[in-house]
Amino acid sequence: MKEELLAIALKDPLASLDDAKAKAFFDKYGSIEAIEGKLRLPNHVTSVRHVWRDHELSNEEVAALKDIVGVLQKTHAQLLSAHPTLAGILSRNESHFREATADINEPIRVAVTGASGNIGYALLYRLASGDAFGPRTPVILQLLELPGALNALQGVEMELRDCAFPTLRDVIVTDKPEVAFAGVDYALLVGAQPRSKGMERADLLMKNAEIFTVQGKALNAHAKGKDTRVIVVGNPANTNALIAQRNAPKIPPANFGAMTRLDHTRGLAQLSEKLQLTSTTEIKNFCIWGNHSATQFPDISHSLVFKNGQWKSLREELNDEAWNQNTFIPDVQQRGAAIIKARGASSAASAASALIDNVREWHSGTTEWTSCGVHSNGEYGVEKGLFFSYPLIFNNQKWNVVPNLHMNAFAQERIDATHKELREERDAVAKFLPKD
Ligand code: NAD
Ligand code: LMR
Repeated sequence: MKEELLAIALKDPLASLDDAKAKAFFDKYGSIEAIEGKLRLPNHVTSVRHVWRDHELSNEEVAALKDIVGVLQKTHAQLLSAHPTLAGILSRNESHFREATADINEPIRVAVTGASGNIGYALLYRLASGDAFGPRTPVILQLLELPGALNALQGVEMELRDCAFPTLRDVIVTDKPEVAFAGVDYALLVGAQPRSKGMERADLLMKNAEIFTVQGKALNAHAKGKDTRVIVVGNPANTNALIAQRNAPKIPPANFGAMTRLDHTRGLAQLSEKLQLTSTTEIKNFCIWGNHSATQFPDISHSLVFKNGQWKSLREELNDEAWNQNTFIPDVQQRGAAIIKARGASSAASAASALIDNVREWHSGTTEWTSCGVHSNGEYGVEKGLFFSYPLIFNNQKWNVVPNLHMNAFAQERIDATHKELREERDAVAKFLPKD
């Protein structure tokens, strides 16, 4: 029986991998035949699942299949570490391996504010379909909107239900923060007051400070508690995160984040294009420091690029410091503004995608550097308590700042500038900040 199931499960292991990038990978690293014997893709773990679901297997047979999955996992991990391009192609499916041997998890409650807005519309379907928490973890979406947008949100709810996602357990639609935040594991604070014509940045800061004070207090009173994670997207994201966190003392400060994940992917995309790479995963050790604003510092000082089978200094391969300083850094800093100018609205699909990446990484961990604005413990000379974007590694739903990085004078100057802006923003909203 075991052999028979194995044969079914592993049949035609590459059939579903028709991605052009995957083909490029095989062209680069060897023939399909050469790799076929060793490579077992996550899709086949999914088919293993189907096999055992459809065959009503005994406990012994399920155990045998779990063994097989374990072996596949090991091979998979070895291949991923040896071949970063393959890692890129498969990284989004990585959770299938874990999920294949997992029982159905408890549902995760996820609050999303501003749920009928542009980002909300691109975000909710991916949350509901398992992109953030995996195919074995049901989600209950608890959606908050302003009263005037509730009608539209009810339409979004209908559409969500119409998708019949196996992972969507329930949808709650409300204009009351205490309902939206009740018992939540994750709160994704997307809704914010947009900047209107003639509104100064300082006015925007104040208007949003009021919103994030109310939401922080509601999270404190109604969210699950010390295990709740809160990621702020609504701008100014770092300072809004600070306000929400200070108004929610029951939730550990380290559980709050301000999204700079989109700046991170913007940087990777531009570097990848400049260096003509096959995939953005051929870059590692890239990060965003500081504020999600035009003072942020996209930093390539420590970055590596995968060239001719080896990780090499990206800066040396680029060999164009003028491009880094005069084109790359300003382009990443100004990318949000460029999209607003082109679209007449701020980035939405890319912001939602970055938020899915951010949540998935926080929930399931990372092996490579990522970026998020987090509650500083003073790392790299930043004032304790500010929400500062750092290079991070997530593990067990906790983050660690990558330690001991050397800063040259240029990098230090950039970090000082974004640090200064965050101190000024904090001082401007001081009246909304109860003591830490
Ligand atoms: P949007 O205007 O399309 O939607 C925002 C929604 O929030 C609206 O439906 C509005 O009714 C709702 N809202 C406003 N105040 C609310 C409140 N107090 N409670 C609940 N809902 C409320 O905007 P969007 O394009 O979805 O962007 C949302 C925010 O994300 C903006 O602040 C934008 O600047 C920011 N943003 C951040 C990043 C990032 O990388 N951090 C990227 C893109 C956009
Ligand atoms: C972005 O980075 O795309 C947004 O934060 C821009 C904005 O001001 O909404």
